[in-house]
Amino acid sequence: MSFSRRDFLKIMGVSSAIWQIPTGVLARNPFQTSSFVTPSLKGISPDFQDRLLTAPGLSWQTILSEGDELGRKIKFGANNDYIQFFQLTGPDHGIMWVNHEYLTPLLSSKPERTKEIVDQEMEMVGGSLVEIRQTSEGWRPVIGSVYNRRVTGKTIIPFSGGKTILGKSEAVGTLANCAGGRTPWGTLLTCEENYDGFYGETDRKTGTHTPAEYLKWDNFYNHPPEHYGWVVEVDPKTGSAKKHIGLGRFAHECATVRLARDGRPVVYSGDDAADEHLYKFIAKNKGSLEEGTLYVANITKGIWIPLVHSDPRLKKVFKDQTEILINCREAAKLVGATPLDRPEDIEIDPYKGDVLVACTNNKAAQRPYGSILKIRERNNNPLSLNFTSETFLSGGEAGGFACPDNMAFDPRGNLWFTTDMSGWDMHKGPLLNFGNNGLFVVMRQGPTAGIPIQMASAPMDAEFTGPLFSPDGKTLFLSVQHPGETSTDLTKLTSTWPNGKFPRSSVIALTGPLLNQITGA
Ligand code: FEO
Ligand code: CA
Ligand code: CA
Repeated sequence: MSFSRRDFLKIMGVSSAIWQIPTGVLARNPFQTSSFVTPSLKGISPDFQDRLLTAPGLSWQTILSEGDELGRKIKFGANNDYIQFFQLTGPDHGIMWVNHEYLTPLLSSKPERTKEIVDQEMEMVGGSLVEIRQTSEGWRPVIGSVYNRRVTGKTIIPFSGGKTILGKSEAVGTLANCAGGRTPWGTLLTCEENYDGFYGETDRKTGTHTPAEYLKWDNFYNHPPEHYGWVVEVDPKTGSAKKHIGLGRFAHECATVRLARDGRPVVYSGDDAADEHLYKFIAKNKGSLEEGTLYVANITKGIWIPLVHSDPRLKKVFKDQTEILINCREAAKLVGATPLDRPEDIEIDPYKGDVLVACTNNKAAQRPYGSILKIRERNNNPLSLNFTSETFLSGGEAGGFACPDNMAFDPRGNLWFTTDMSGWDMHKGPLLNFGNNGLFVVMRQGPTAGIPIQMASAPMDAEFTGPLFSPDGKTLFLSVQHPGETSTDLTKLTSTWPNGKFPRSSVIALTGPLLNQITGA
């Protein structure tokens, strides 16, 4: 079929100058499907205001906000991110897990650093388990439920498989919990990303401590930085947690699990920092992540390289396998891993098995818009150590989005993704025309197939994170993280979302006839 750019813009219901989509974009559907069965979609234009705007046919409600009382003397934590849902009695009732990645002291505690303030902050990160239910008033938490629990920066968490790190078999707390994953055996994975902002980092060669620059908890506690930066597995029904050493230590964005044909889990994870790497863990046994081999990607050669102590390049530098796993970044570079533009969330195409990796940006390399990378394992076999790769979508003015981050496939296989333009970078320079962060859908079929269409726009400074479809596909759960983050003073708030008074990160439920139309629910 063919239609002009003008027709296309009319269909999209947008008119601003940056939506001049070149023909090349229209011609290419990265899903490579051809049958047109779904109607065209009307998206929204970039929005620059402090509001949560959705496309016509979508609506939202707040489910949980920072500081909400959950009963049993526990509160919902700060800066909610990754969401997971475990059904209890039906698709409208379950236990929701929500990551609490970090906090913004001005808005969540106090900028001053005292032990008392830090002790409070340690209770605000980690994750929440909350029983939720869909009622006549929409999705609501069950206050006081026995399922409501917190895992925090103070929870004692063992290293799995009886392993020790620096002579200790357990760590104090989990933190920097960004995205995550879900295992086929009913547990969740929560990933420790920018841990160095809490307790700093250790220089492996000299053993010296580099102090934390952000939250500076290391002013009051000497918990080893090596106890953070891991993938943590949590049982949603009991709250019991363990840190997996085998998946390596770096700024873990996510841990996306798929099963190999022999039933063993394979986990993909990106290290979200500029010029860091993409990893794959192949478990040794079914139903467990305690043992296995960690690989890192060389994209140019299309190979997964094992990070094992028997490799002479690693044996020369590291005293044992644990030291390699603690220092994955250094090990990865020694074996020739490919630097990437901040690899963040990873999703598996439910129809094709392709592995999509959101690469947010690389400002130093003058790539401010990011892209989504597609990896195709040889024979679509997760155990394969060979793959091909190509760019699935490019950020920038042609694509109409910048800085892709979290992703989710809906039940029909349409790809939804959110963007993460930094609050300090948006609305100016290369991001001048992109508005606030957004939620986009890339339809698999239909006249707008393959084209990112904006479905929602976040409040000022916020990013949408943790997109997750309810089991029936009728709700898209979404975190609205860090509204008002660039505020420099409580009298000069850049956002007052959601209550019009003070900014609070919140989990929302996005519903509506348009969502059902897209997802087929
Ligand atoms: Fe916490 Fe890479 O986002
Ligand atoms: Ca993220
Ligand atoms: Ca991000």
